[in-house]
Amino acid sequence: MGREVTHMQKRVLKWEEARHSLGIPLIDEQHRKIILGINTLHQAVAKALPHDAVRSLLANLIQLIDQHFSFEEALMQEYAFPETESHRLEHRAIVAHARHLLNALTPARPLRTKLAVADLTAWTERHVLASDRALGAFLIAQGAAARQRAVPGR
Ligand SMILES: [Fe+2]
Ligand SMILES: [Fe+2]
Repeated sequence: MGREVTHMQKRVLKWEEARHSLGIPLIDEQHRKIILGINTLHQAVAKALPHDAVRSLLANLIQLIDQHFSFEEALMQEYAFPETESHRLEHRAIVAHARHLLNALTPARPLRTKLAVADLTAWTERHVLASDRALGAFLIAQGAAARQRAVPGR
C-alpha cells in the first residue's frame, strides 16, 4: 500500500446517501449505478487491468449514462423544467468527454487515461451535486416523487 494507492482511493467516488440522494428514488437508483460503474472503471484503471476490460467497462458506463440522461431529459420535458436547456448541455458535455475518452483509450498512455477518468468522475459528481440537485428539488416541488408511476420510462 504505497502512497499512490492512498491517493487513488481518495478519488474513488462512492455513493453517500446524505450527499448524493436527491429524494427521487428512480433517479437516485440510476445515479447509484452510475457511481458504481465509475468506481469499477476507476479501480480497473488503477489496477491496470487489460485494455479490453477497461474499454468494455467504459462502454457499459457510457450506455448507462446515456440511458439515464434520456430519462432525466424526458422528465424535464414532462414537467417543463425551466433550466432544461443548460442541463441538457451539461449532459452532452459529459457524454462527449466519455466518448472522447473511449476513442482515445490506449494502453500506451496509462497516465492520460487515469487523468481522464478522474475528470469524468469529478464532472459527473459535480453535475449530480449541482444541476441534478436543482432538478430534484424542482421535481419534488412538482410532486414528481409521489407520482412516480406517472413518470416516463418506468
Ligand atoms: Fe442530469
Ligand atoms: Fe443525473
